[in-house]
Amino acid sequence: MNQNELKSLVGKKSVEWIKDGMTVGLGTGSTVYYMVEELGRRVKDENLKITGVTTSIRTANQAKSLGIPLKSVDTVDHIDVTIDGADEISSDFQGIKGGGAALLYEKIVATNSDKVMWIVDESKMVDKLGRFPLPVEVIPYGSQKIFERFEKKGLNPAFRKDDKGGLLLTDSDNYIIDLHLGQIDNPHELAEYLIHQVGVVEHGLFLDMVDTVIVGRQNGLEVLEA
Ligand code: A5P
Repeated sequence: MNQNELKSLVGKKSVEWIKDGMTVGLGTGSTVYYMVEELGRRVKDENLKITGVTTSIRTANQAKSLGIPLKSVDTVDHIDVTIDGADEISSDFQGIKGGGAALLYEKIVATNSDKVMWIVDESKMVDKLGRFPLPVEVIPYGSQKIFERFEKKGLNPAFRKDDKGGLLLTDSDNYIIDLHLGQIDNPHELAEYLIHQVGVVEHGLFLDMVDTVIVGRQNGLEVLEA
């Protein structure tokens, strides 16, 4: 199976956790795409009654096109489960997210969910985090100064560019600085440092947040409880 087939497999599988009446956080990314398609199919074919809370304009557009009813995180009293992708998951279930630039809304929705599930193909499972560049969302004003501070600290920052070569803007009109770290030995310490830098809105370390991981492997699906 190729990577897309594995993504499709875990995406479809995760929808089995969704029951009538649930409020469901809908993540962002190419794996979540398959989950949302399957959810839309169940809403249409099985008349499944759910409410979605999306984490990006991209996912909201897809969900709307499939007739999935949506609400904002601020107007639901709770979210039963959020299903999202991840860029890396370490052996102790810490994660890097934000490869699709949706980390801010993803973290807001995840922290307001009773249960968080990540769906990934096996390439995302790592021993230690850090090979995947760590996204940090910053407000544009003063972002050059933050960049320089990261550089001085040896964090190998790079502003993320869009398709046209300009600076990528997130759904909240912020910039992303990707930190090319290679390996993160102490994710909690790094997270603590990053969140206290003025101008940083959020970072892509999702720590102690996930409950269940579905991994698509060549030899089948694996469901891991954190
Ligand atoms: C979006 O900002 C990310 O956090 C995604 O969830 C993550 O990049 C995984 O995306 P794929 O499923 O496309 O690999």
